[in-house]
Amino acid sequence: MMMLIPCLIILLFINSIVADVTITSVPSAGLPSNQYIIENQLPLSEQTHELVKVEDIVLVSQMSNSVLVKVQVDKYGIAQHVAGFQIANSTSGLHGLAHSTKNPGMVWLTLETDNKLLLIDPVTASVTDAPKVIKEINVPQPGNGPHYIGVAHPIFIAQHPINKMFYSGEDDSSKIIKINPATGNTIQIDVDSSAGTTPVGMISGPKGIWFTLLGNATAGTGTFGFIDQDDKIVYHKLTSPLGKDAALLHLAFDVAYETNYKMYLLSSSIDNPNALDMVIKVTFDEQWTTIKDEEVIVIPTQQCKAHRLLPTQFNVFATELAASKFLTLFSP
Ligand SMILES: *[C@@H]1O[C@H](CO)[C@@H](O)[C@H](O)[C@H]1NC(C)=O
Ligand SMILES: *[C@@H]1O[C@H](CO)[C@@H](O)[C@H](O)[C@H]1NC(C)=O
Repeated sequence: MMMLIPCLIILLFINSIVADVTITSVPSAGLPSNQYIIENQLPLSEQTHELVKVEDIVLVSQMSNSVLVKVQVDKYGIAQHVAGFQIANSTSGLHGLAHSTKNPGMVWLTLETDNKLLLIDPVTASVTDAPKVIKEINVPQPGNGPHYIGVAHPIFIAQHPINKMFYSGEDDSSKIIKINPATGNTIQIDVDSSAGTTPVGMISGPKGIWFTLLGNATAGTGTFGFIDQDDKIVYHKLTSPLGKDAALLHLAFDVAYETNYKMYLLSSSIDNPNALDMVIKVTFDEQWTTIKDEEVIVIPTQQCKAHRLLPTQFNVFATELAASKFLTLFSP
């Protein structure tokens, strides 16, 4: 024992002299600075779907039990108070939510199984006060709601900002329908199968119509598309390790997209249980033709079937269909 300790000290001493491993700092470009993700818990429900924001209240539809949740949030979208309201009864199928254009601050709800549209005052003064019904419109059966003033298949309808035609993704058939509102004429446009399948999340955006390709039950596509004024489709493929196979369900533009060229994509496990649930921030060039930057944020609760995105001035919201949550992503 007496001999062993001096030997160890000598060995350590020799080691420290010959060590030649160097440690230096590396450039950290691309690291998100100061970025936070908070998941807000809602009352438990099998299906949490859509969301709109009126003042500091976020309204969230829970379809499986027809509950509308009012959530008072702070500047960055973190829940302060939550209250749920039964809309009609538990089988009424509350689904779509949309701001009223004629009545600012009022919100349209769709009741899918009751074949009804409701215009409500969400009563933003207090989170616990029940919303008030202002108008009720019966939709001829089988209007099923409707959802987004569309039908079950297709779900999204968008008007082209330049040619003014209406476009809608025909989900599983992997086609896009184009409707001329003046003549009623329709044509179908095929999605290029080498780019991917299942066009969803169709919205009007800079210079044209934008949509995502969800893929199927086993594979995502990492691809989204743009339709120009002559119906030419340009496909954009994500390239980051997690982005390239993303199962893209929804997309939304930043509120300042005209100056920052940013958009958000939502990858979801809704159809493919192995897909990652992610928010992907994409920055384009000024012509909206080339992706300049791609940043992937993995949602903390996986297999949540991430459903819809809602960017605001200070944050980005996303609903988690199977997890009774909605998240906020922000940089204070
Ligand atoms: C559901 O509510 C509607 C009115 O909103 C009512 O007419 C209907 O009878 C109710 N159904 C059930 C099963 O409670
Ligand atoms: C899903 O898509 C992938 C990639 O395109 C394809 O290889 C696979 O065969 C598809 N699976 C089904 C069930 O269609």
